[in-house]
Amino acid sequence: MPLPAGFSNPLLVAIDRPDLASALALAEPLRAIAGGFKLGLELFVAEGPRAVDAFSRLGPPVFLDLKLHDIPNTVAAAVRSAARLGPALLTLHAAGGPAMLRAAAEAARAAGCGLRLLAVTVLTSLDRDDLEAIGVRAAPLEQVVRLARLAVACGIDGIVCSPSEVAAVRGALGPAPILVVPGIRPEGVATADQKRTADPRVATAAGADLLVVGRPITAAADPLAAARAILRELGIASGS
Ligand code: C5P
Repeated sequence: MPLPAGFSNPLLVAIDRPDLASALALAEPLRAIAGGFKLGLELFVAEGPRAVDAFSRLGPPVFLDLKLHDIPNTVAAAVRSAARLGPALLTLHAAGGPAMLRAAAEAARAAGCGLRLLAVTVLTSLDRDDLEAIGVRAAPLEQVVRLARLAVACGIDGIVCSPSEVAAVRGALGPAPILVVPGIRPEGVATADQKRTADPRVATAAGADLLVVGRPITAAADPLAAARAILRELGIASGS
């Protein structure tokens, strides 16, 4: 599977840090080999657009994981605002529905800067009982595939999905959509609080285009060595 345009390799490092100084300190040694950096709500709520701006200067593409979910007009406006910051990828919730998804896709296209949108389907923290509690009478995987199909039909470029979902989502959507998979654990690394994990090769073989890795790299004694080991597992050379 070719990499999405702008990415030199599939390894996206999740920079989950509460402030910009510690986020940049973590990213600096990784910038030469990371395929991209994922910035999430923790950092964005604390530091705002200047965090995206600072990371854009490091080199690797920025994945802005804001999981937008609001009325169509508001989400489209937020997509336009985000596009001005220059990230390569931005997330939103497929559960926002068709009008929201179409408005967001149209706003990203109109921005003309190559921003691609990824839909989050069912949060991996939700099980069947949680879905039932919010009125959804479907198994999680069935709901994931339903929302993934909806998002792509509405013009969204890709899906964020767990290792246990990626094969079903790829099977349902075909080769075109970008599939981004968190919950990646290199062989022999503790799974921490992630329940559904896979090693990098398994996720890639199941259809993932890009892999999100946080703590196996960011909590390692030597993050650069940990990132290099993952690239090696994927058969990608990254220096010594
Ligand atoms: O540290 P870890 O590798 O578990 O980090 C994974 C990153 O991906 C975190 O930023 C987390 O918020 C995000 N994520 C996830 N599972 C999902 C969706 C997003 O772990 N289902």
